Amino acid sequence: MSSAPAPVVILISGRGSNLRSILDETRAGRLPIEIRAVISNNPEAEGLQHARAAGMPTEVVNHRNYADRAQFEAKLMQAIDRHAPRLVILAGFMRILGEVFIRHYAGRLLNIHPSLLPAFKGLNTHARALAAGAPQHGASVHFVTNDLDGGPVIVQATVPVRANDSADTLGARVLHEEHRILPLAIRWFVEGRLSLRNGQVLLDGEIRPEQGLIAAPGIQAEASK
Ligand code: GRF
Repeated sequence: MSSAPAPVVILISGRGSNLRSILDETRAGRLPIEIRAVISNNPEAEGLQHARAAGMPTEVVNHRNYADRAQFEAKLMQAIDRHAPRLVILAGFMRILGEVFIRHYAGRLLNIHPSLLPAFKGLNTHARALAAGAPQHGASVHFVTNDLDGGPVIVQATVPVRANDSADTLGARVLHEEHRILPLAIRWFVEGRLSLRNGQVLLDGEIRPEQGLIAAPGIQAEASK
């Protein structure tokens, strides 16, 4: 394995706190990556400002400027591929991606999702976890496939759900874990320890259990919603 930092491209849509956690780990010397570009579909994304302040190249590919998803994604792929990344990281990227895009980056496209997948795919995960009375909640990093939020899970982290939690307090607890596990999965990948083989996650040559680290009891019923 080469010791040169791995070129990566990070896609964001908003606040960019996951982006910042990746940046912090990189600067601390714990993540051997070179962030070639931070690309946002949203020109107003707060995360773009953090990226610029940190001296990172940023680009905007605004989905509103394209007639349809295929055209937007073609432009996005061009923007990404100019940087020849080994890994593309969806760090709070809020557009649903199509088949062509996903196939193009198969096995090198990671996403962070704020739930214990397969529970609570989609949006508003914290409010839904509360409404379902889930005993615990958490975050998942997974390889992206055409199954929305359903790609093979790499790593998960759980947090307790407390009696007095609001979606915000629960979400903050989950976010803290997101900031831990996304850099961890990135590190595994760029160190050559992690891959996607025949739809399964391989870490250090071993097949990961289907739900990553844990399968949270009690909330599987929500999974198919
Ligand atoms: C995170 O909760 C992430 O899991 C979800 O969108 C949110 C993005 O937050 N996909 P940030 O922009 O990284 O702060």
